[in-house]
Amino acid sequence: MSDAIVAEGLTKRYGDHTALDELDLTVPEGTVLGLLGPNGAGKTTTVRILTTLVRPDAGRATVAGLDVVADARALRARIGVSGQYAAVDDDLTGAENLEMIGRLYHLGRRRSRTRARELLERFDLTAAADRPLKGYSGGMRRRIDLAGSLVAEPPVLFLDEPTTGLDPRARAALWDTIADLVSGGTTVLLTTQYMEEADRLADRVAVLDHGRVIETGTADELKDRIGGDRIELTAPGPGAVEAACRALAPLASGPVRADGAHVMAPVAEGADSLARALGLLDAAGVAVRDVGLRRPTLDEVFLSLTGHTADAPPNPDDGREPALAAPGRPSGRAGRADREEHAR
Ligand SMILES: Nc1ncnc2c1ncn2[C@@H]1O[C@H](COP(=O)(O)OP(=O)(O)O)[C@@H](O)[C@H]1O
Ligand SMILES: [Mg+2]
Repeated sequence: MSDAIVAEGLTKRYGDHTALDELDLTVPEGTVLGLLGPNGAGKTTTVRILTTLVRPDAGRATVAGLDVVADARALRARIGVSGQYAAVDDDLTGAENLEMIGRLYHLGRRRSRTRARELLERFDLTAAADRPLKGYSGGMRRRIDLAGSLVAEPPVLFLDEPTTGLDPRARAALWDTIADLVSGGTTVLLTTQYMEEADRLADRVAVLDHGRVIETGTADELKDRIGGDRIELTAPGPGAVEAACRALAPLASGPVRADGAHVMAPVAEGADSLARALGLLDAAGVAVRDVGLRRPTLDEVFLSLTGHTADAPPNPDDGREPALAAPGRPSGRAGRADREEHAR
């Protein structure tokens, strides 16, 4: 199996801030890589470089066998990219937006129209096809954005936080759609802040922190490595904190951590662990409050992998995401960012 995406030593600096720090990635053809990381980790920068919108300062990358810098123009015709924020035209209807993208990809008037109707149908937007986008809900915008990235039937698809801000139902619907595409053989690089999303969609996950890949594996491998579920409790005083840590140590799948009155023990056995923890605490005579079993949050994944929590620096990038990278896109946010970047 060959690799649809290969990145080696990708580095990108903004002033004295290093957004990407020698990032390495490979994504085998026909698989999904979940790029998981908190705000500011470098996910969007990675997507922008791989979709030719931004040039790396160092390193190299190929997508579908084409170099992201040297072959940028040819590459743009072979990829789809769906942004964190839809950069479609609000005054045009859903159908008009998709047709416009088809024209930008030189599909021709008739083919663009057919393709637009196919995609509107597929994304359950037929009823809204002739309404301007400004009346669309958040979920509908995500769907039209994703539809736009598929107009040219790209073999490689980049989805930058496709479900951020969606309600659970819209998120589940979008997951189904993405899973469908993948079963049709599309290679997908998906960025997300949700462990659950990576778990659901990705064959492999790469965890990004401060512009570097700090861990890769399947979602299951990562969960095993970070201990999966954890027992959390509050202890009434310093003595009780220490006693609780000692009592839970035999049960824990990794180091038991205390933060003030709060104690966290990674455990492997899920529901059984809670009963065992209560038994151990009781046997040790430790009185505690609020004992519970919790699934790992992204912060806990990071704490476990890096020893620090996922700090989320303000992101100046927010609000001007590239969404639909079409060859020769004449205007809009993506086009503007592109020109600025390449003018340097
Ligand atoms: N155009 C830019 N100018 C200055 N700093 C940027 C720019 N784009 C991104 N950054 C910075 O680079 C880092 C990575 O950003 P980004 O790739 O957007 O992260 P993510 O998508 O994971 O939230 C952040 O610290 C962000 O503030
Ligand atoms: Mg981002």
